[in-house]
Amino acid sequence: MKIYVPMDAAAKAVGADEVAAGILAEAAARGIDVTLVRNGTRGMVWLEPLVEVESDQGRVGFGPVTLADVPALFGDLGAHPKAVGVVEEIPFFAAQTRLTFARCGVTDPLSLSEYEAHGGLAGLRRAIGMGPAGIVQEVTDSGLRGRGGAGFPTGIKWQTVAGAQAAQKYIVCNADEGDSGTFADRMIMEGDPFCLIEGMVIAGLGVGATRGFVYLRSEYPDAIAAMRAAVVRARGAGILGADVLGSGAAFDMEVRVGAGAYVCGEETSLLNSLEGKRGVVRAKPPLPALQGFMGQPTVVNNVISLATVPVIFEKGAAFYAGFGLGRSKGTIPVQIAGNVRFGGLFETAFGMTLGKLVDEIAGGTGSGHPVKAVQIGGPLGAYFGREKFETPFGYEEFDGQGGLIGHAGLAVFDSHVNMREMARFAMEFCAVESCGKCTPCRIGAVRGVETIDRIGRGDTAAVELLTDLCDTMKDSSLCALGGFTPYPVMSALSHFPEDFGLAREAAE
Ligand code: NAI
Ligand code: SF4
Repeated sequence: MKIYVPMDAAAKAVGADEVAAGILAEAAARGIDVTLVRNGTRGMVWLEPLVEVESDQGRVGFGPVTLADVPALFGDLGAHPKAVGVVEEIPFFAAQTRLTFARCGVTDPLSLSEYEAHGGLAGLRRAIGMGPAGIVQEVTDSGLRGRGGAGFPTGIKWQTVAGAQAAQKYIVCNADEGDSGTFADRMIMEGDPFCLIEGMVIAGLGVGATRGFVYLRSEYPDAIAAMRAAVVRARGAGILGADVLGSGAAFDMEVRVGAGAYVCGEETSLLNSLEGKRGVVRAKPPLPALQGFMGQPTVVNNVISLATVPVIFEKGAAFYAGFGLGRSKGTIPVQIAGNVRFGGLFETAFGMTLGKLVDEIAGGTGSGHPVKAVQIGGPLGAYFGREKFETPFGYEEFDGQGGLIGHAGLAVFDSHVNMREMARFAMEFCAVESCGKCTPCRIGAVRGVETIDRIGRGDTAAVELLTDLCDTMKDSSLCALGGFTPYPVMSALSHFPEDFGLAREAAE
C-alpha cells in the first residue's frame, strides 16, 4: 500500500506530520505493509492535509484528514467520509495547466530518481547540447518574463549578463517572497527543489556564471531545509560542481538566509544583504546585470522564473510560448488567498479573467458574503472591484486597468471590508518596511497614515492632500516599495469613495 502525505509547510501547519505518524502507527498495528511518501503539496490548501492512496484508478485523495480519519484509510476507501476522488480529477486541479508545477505534489521532493522519472534533467541535458548562445536564444524565444512582479523579459536580462565581460558572473535567485498572500516560491522550493536548481544551472551555462545563490527568507524554514538538502544531493549526482553532468562545465550554488525585511526582495537591497551589508536599496543604474553581486555581472531572477526554465528546455521554447495571451506567454501560478472557499495555487495559461478566477475557481468568498474587492500583486497591488472582473490575467491587461500582476497573489475581501482601513494599512506597511533611503517613501508613508486618519475623522478636504502625496511617492521614490504603495491607496479611494466619506461621483 502506497500512501502520500504532504510535507509542505501549509500541510504541516494543519497537522500533516501527526497524520503521517498516525498512518504508520495504524499500519503497524494492523500488520499492513505501507510505503509512506512525504510529497509536496498539490496546492489545494483547503483540503490539507490531503492524503493520497495509490489505487487502480490512480491516486485517490482524502482531505482534510485528521488523526480520527486515519483508521478508515485502511477500510473501504470509497466509503471514507473524507474521500475526494481521484486527485487529478478534482475540478480545481483538472482545470490547471501545470508546467512549472508539473511535479509538485506528485513526487518525493528529494528523490532525484523520481525527479528524472518525471522529466527532470531532460531540459538541462538539452541545454548542454545547445551552448551558451543557444540557451539564451531559447529563453528569449519562449517569451518568459520575470515572475517576481516586474515582468521584464528573462532572455534580454540573460543576454545583458552573457554579453558583459568579467572573470566572475553570478546567478542570484530571489527567494525573498514577501508579498502578502503569495506562496508559489515556497511551494516549489519545498515540493520540487531540484527544478529550481536545474533552472539555475541552465542560467549559469547560458550566461557564463559559475556560482549561484538562493536568497531565502528566514520565515521559510522548511524551504531552507529542502533547498539545502537538494543542493547536497545535486552536488553528489554531478548536477552541481565541476563537470556538470559530464559536460566539462562548472556551476555550484548555496542557500543564504535573509533576516526578514520586505525590502530585501528588491533586487539591489537583496544584493547588499547578500554581501553582508545593510539591506538598503541601491540606485539603478548600474543594473545588477552589469554590476550586481560584488560588483560583477549578475542574473537576479525570481524563483518561479528560474523554476520555469527546465520545462522550457524540456519541451521547447515554441511549446511554452504557445500558451498565454499577447506578450504574456506561458503560464502563471496564481495564488488565491483571503476570503475564498477554495484557496491555493492555480497554475494557468495567461488570459483567464479575474472574474473566472475569483467566482469559479476560488468559488467566491468563504464567508458567503459578496466579493467587494480583490487585491492583486501583494501589498503594493491595486484593489479591483467587480467592475474590473472581465480583465484577463496578463501584464499589459492589468497595467491598462491601473493595476499590476506582481507575484500573482490574489487576496479576496468580502463586503465587510473597509477600504479606507486597507489604504491605511498600505501606508503603514510602507512606513514599517521602508529602507529609509529616500524622502518620499520614508516620510511620505508616515504622512500618508496621518492623512488617511484625518479623512477617517471626517476631514474630507484631506483627500486632495492624499492624492498629491501619492503622486509624489509614485513619481519620485527610488524603488517599487515607495513608488507602488499609491496603487492600493488610490485604487481604494477611486473605486470605493464611500469608505472615505465621499460621494461616489465626487471621487470619480
Ligand atoms: P524593474 O522594472 O526596475 O526591473 C525589472 C528587472 O529587469 C530587474 O531585475 C532589472 O534589473 C532588470 N532590467 C531592467 N532593464 C534591464 C536591461 N536593460 N538589461 C537587463 N536587465 C534589466 O522592477 P523591480 O523594481 O526590480 O521590481 C518591481 C516589481 O517587484 C513590482 O512589479 C512588484 O510587483 C514586484 N514585487 C515583488 C515582490 C515579491 O514578493 N515577489 C515583493 C515586492 C515587489
Ligand atoms: Fe527605500 Fe522606500 Fe526609497 Fe525604496 S522607496 S529606496 S524602500 S526609502
